[in-house]
Amino acid sequence: MKVLIVGGGGREHTIAMKIAENPQVTKLYAAPGNGGMAALCECVPFKATDVAGITAWAKENAIDFVVVAPDDPLCLGMVDALAEVGIPAFGPNKAAAIIEGSKVFSKNLMKKYGIPTAAYETFEDYDAAVAYLQTADMPIVVKADGLALGKGVLICNTREEAIEAVDSMMKDEKFGASGKSVVIEEFLTGPEVSVLAFTDGKVVKPMVSSMDHKRALDHDEGLNTGGMGTIAPNPCYTPELAERCMQEIFLPTINAMNAEGRTFKGCLYFGLMMTPKGPKVIEYNCRFGDPETQVVLPLLKSDLLTIMQATVNGTLADTEVEFDNGAACCVVIASGGYPVSYKSGYVISGLEAAGENALVIHAGTKLNENGDIVTAGGRVLGVVGRCKCLPGAISKAYEAAKKISFTDLHMRSDIGQRGLAAMTD
Ligand code: AMP
Ligand code: GLY
Repeated sequence: MKVLIVGGGGREHTIAMKIAENPQVTKLYAAPGNGGMAALCECVPFKATDVAGITAWAKENAIDFVVVAPDDPLCLGMVDALAEVGIPAFGPNKAAAIIEGSKVFSKNLMKKYGIPTAAYETFEDYDAAVAYLQTADMPIVVKADGLALGKGVLICNTREEAIEAVDSMMKDEKFGASGKSVVIEEFLTGPEVSVLAFTDGKVVKPMVSSMDHKRALDHDEGLNTGGMGTIAPNPCYTPELAERCMQEIFLPTINAMNAEGRTFKGCLYFGLMMTPKGPKVIEYNCRFGDPETQVVLPLLKSDLLTIMQATVNGTLADTEVEFDNGAACCVVIASGGYPVSYKSGYVISGLEAAGENALVIHAGTKLNENGDIVTAGGRVLGVVGRCKCLPGAISKAYEAAKKISFTDLHMRSDIGQRGLAAMTD
């Protein structure tokens, strides 16, 4: 079987590692892939958003199954385009991917179907948004409607900051078309939990929970990033909370999407906050999270490709989705200066030594002309430690991560500490 993975980050490298475990897979391809994926896959130099190019290439090369991992090709309809040429693909179609592609859509969906989320208003008119802010309670959260690589969310402590946020989105168009509409919502508090779930539109099978660390610096300081590290399972997510989320959030969401004629198949990501009033949805993503995938999939005991095929075929109810009872920790190694500006092209050393006791997952890396692996992005690597318990997983990840070096390397030193603190509360 020939399988193509669309994307080229740490999430895609992790997916490739798991798919390679299936003995039916004879050849793996990645578009565009990265320096680490090149060891497992033949990398084809398409942009992940090149729907027409990738679809035509997949047809020409008789690809049997495609995994569309990033949000933008999903929102552009890559799964629909592949279906048109007869190639089954993992991921939601365009109509369902809107659950991530438009925050206005997802907030209205939750309101209509009674799914718990922060109270909100949506605005297409700048003056109306500013007028609303004159009397709203602070802090408040201002979000750009469309995809903005995790950067379109601004938490504002004062009225001035909130108006500035609306200015940046609606007037200065800092987030391009994504900011034409904005959502202004209530500020919630509580521990955050990420839950990725497989669904075929009929049943939903949640994966082990995880915790992201979004800020660039230790103690959750600095700018928001795509994610500087993760742990799984998330110690804040008790079995009681998991059951409540299933009844109050996961099943109602799948049913709501069906009722809207937008059946969701693939991996639905629930970004949740455990507030004093119960679990609430902060955001939906229409795909695996990055770097959540790097800790979740290494704990998956069942066969990933079989599960992915079951989400497409509607047979997930009969498919085993089992996780290991252990823990995992992923420490992201980034280029100094990320998420603002950084240099690339530095040779990375220590990869082999780090790989002895940990999984070394590539994100922004590439092979240069000399055959060296060099930095090629903001988030460069994810180093994943696995152990029976969380403290062991954290130590293993850091022991391995410290063996890696390149110019201007930056990593947080406290990934998992918030989770450990929650365990002793
Ligand atoms: P998002 O891109 O929607 O995941 O938002 C990025 C981060 O902003 C989340 O992980 C939260 O930490 C924070 N956030 C988003 N919405 C809210 C909210 N309503 N209340 C408090 N924090 C929020
Ligand atoms: N780690 C958060 C995301 O993938 O959106």
